[in-house]
Amino acid sequence: MKAAQVCYRKLLITVDSKLIEHISAVLFDCGTLGIEEREDGLISYFPGSTTIEQINAAMDNAKGILNGLGLSSEFTFTIEDLPHTDWTTEWKKGLNPIEAGDKLVILAPWHEYSGDRLRIVIEPAMAFGTGHHATTLMCLEEIEAAALNTKDSLLDIGTGTGILAIAAARLGFTQVIAIDNDPVAVETARENVELNNAARVEVVQNTSNDLNIAPRARGFDTIVCNLTSETIKNLLDKILEAAAPNGTIILSGILKEQEAEIFHYLSLRNIKYVRVKNIGDWVCLSFTPGNCTPLRVAVS
Ligand SMILES: C[S@@+](CC[C@H](N)C(=O)[O-])C[C@H]1O[C@@H](n2cnc3c(N)ncnc32)[C@H](O)[C@@H]1O
Repeated sequence: MKAAQVCYRKLLITVDSKLIEHISAVLFDCGTLGIEEREDGLISYFPGSTTIEQINAAMDNAKGILNGLGLSSEFTFTIEDLPHTDWTTEWKKGLNPIEAGDKLVILAPWHEYSGDRLRIVIEPAMAFGTGHHATTLMCLEEIEAAALNTKDSLLDIGTGTGILAIAAARLGFTQVIAIDNDPVAVETARENVELNNAARVEVVQNTSNDLNIAPRARGFDTIVCNLTSETIKNLLDKILEAAAPNGTIILSGILKEQEAEIFHYLSLRNIKYVRVKNIGDWVCLSFTPGNCTPLRVAVS
């Protein structure tokens, strides 16, 4: 009998709950498609093309980071290969509609919804961004807040499934550009844009750390980046260049202990006032490059 094709690799990690966020950050960096947190650890899904060596290297990297932070690096993991059908069933079981901010709801194509929120339908395929992760949720809330100001244009850096870009289009941004350096994410985002009839969203593949975006006369009104703090540090100057002085920049994917370093980077660039949100150990920063109001908002 022909063996079923491996579509996804399921990584089951048993670890102290205090270390989950640290390990999640490494997994996001290594291209996980999604993470399910559990009481005794987490489950992370990778595309079937990810090799066992790459997953082992990611786990070694996580151990190194935990050791570097003076934390215990005691955890165990197993890897299971999932054929497509198993994946679909598992994924669907864990996904519920998600309400984000005051106006948005994130649905999978099979969800039924009769409320009056703006719908974003995301096919949870091969890219990150179903709305279930804290980093995405905080971005959605901040985009909603930014949409109360000028909503001429929005740039979504690291679009994944396209969720944030589609949300921006739903909230009334006129021109939305979504970029990702992963060709699979770009394809997924384009499919989701079509699924949502979000014709205002243009999805662009960007393979370098340069923001290879056509220069705009006055910059983007809003720039949202749900990346990692390392990538944000590398891209920060480009992000600032691409933003309108009175626009909003939203930075997510930052862990609490990385917040101070990002603040330092921002203060070196004369950004003094930053709005801070957090869910669990994840922090989301937003600010206006030219004119900010000091505010700290804690979200539990
Ligand atoms: C954490 S996911 C965020 C997905 C989605 N925006 C969300 O908020 O749920 C980060 C995405 O950024 C992409 N990415 C990472 N580094 C990038 C870079 N330097 N330029 C563009 N995209 C990048 C990854 O491929 C991934 O799809």
